[in-house]
Amino acid sequence: MDGIKDLDWSKLGFSYHKTDYRYISRWKDGQWDDGKLVTDNKLKISEASTALHYGQQCFEGMKAYRTKEGSIQLFRADQNALRMQNSCDRLLMPKVPVEKFLDACYQVVKANEKFVPPYGTGATLYLRPFVIGVGDNLGVRSAPEFIFSIFVSPVGPYFKGGFKPVDFITTDYDRAAPKGTGAAKIGGNYSASLLPHRQAKDKGYADCIYLDPKTHSKIEEVGAANFFAITKDDVFVTPKSDSILPSITKYSLLHVAEEYLGLEAKETDIYIDELDKYKEAGACGTAAVITPIGSITHKGEKHVFYSEEEVGPITQKLYDSLYGIQTGDIEAPEGWIFKVK
Ligand SMILES: Cc1ncc(COP(=O)(O)O)c(C=O)c1O
Repeated sequence: MDGIKDLDWSKLGFSYHKTDYRYISRWKDGQWDDGKLVTDNKLKISEASTALHYGQQCFEGMKAYRTKEGSIQLFRADQNALRMQNSCDRLLMPKVPVEKFLDACYQVVKANEKFVPPYGTGATLYLRPFVIGVGDNLGVRSAPEFIFSIFVSPVGPYFKGGFKPVDFITTDYDRAAPKGTGAAKIGGNYSASLLPHRQAKDKGYADCIYLDPKTHSKIEEVGAANFFAITKDDVFVTPKSDSILPSITKYSLLHVAEEYLGLEAKETDIYIDELDKYKEAGACGTAAVITPIGSITHKGEKHVFYSEEEVGPITQKLYDSLYGIQTGDIEAPEGWIFKVK
């Protein structure tokens, strides 16, 4: 693709479009270099890199939003920086300082400004920061060198069709172990999810729902997103578990539900055989934003929440508040918005 002339913002899906610049910084002998923007979207690394053999890599997912006034902003970018530090710690990789992470985000978004979709199109600029272990190495150990890079791509909705209810099915597979790496954003969790995802798609579902790996009785995650539901007496609930990714969207929604919608909001166990307790449900995440869940099929039985066609009123309000905050239409809690331009 050449620049932006082929892009129809309102028709974008969640796919890769090469942009002009990416940020890259290298770690060697105990320190990160200053980092720079480059145009080449190919990485040249040792064939013996730990990222290729032992999965020593982690990543983040975040978005830059265009406001009505034309400025550009990031949503809770410091939280992505901190979560990436946790992922690095878990896989014995050097941490990227928060200031360096934020500076890299600003640089790469500014350099690719023409790819930040206009306000009102529903599209955004997705940022994909990552850290990989590189350099010549054979045994199972931490790499001698590392790369921290960020590329960006304009994206539309993660689930086809945008903001309308979609159907999910539970899987018997686990994406993470009880004391494994589920809380870190690392490739291994995602490669483990490819097969169950494909099986769900082949059966006509948007994605699969993972149950807790210890007892398979509680909802953990919805594909690459967290889960939330609204009880019949209007409580916003979302699973509490050490093996799910601590979603920045989910923690934001806990706050939005309480402070903007006046609901009680809590993390708790959500049992798969107690879905009757909930009148609405959704998937939430940077990519998914809020995706209403029309139904969940478990062991051959289909449970419909609010409706398979219409979005529930509380899910709609949560979406309007969250997206309004992210795009600058609604005042954000202090410290949530990072102005790029
Ligand atoms: C497995 C998984 N769970 C949850 C989420 C949501 O996290 P966040 O809200 O920080 O994007 C993601 C990423 O979008 C994810 O990949």
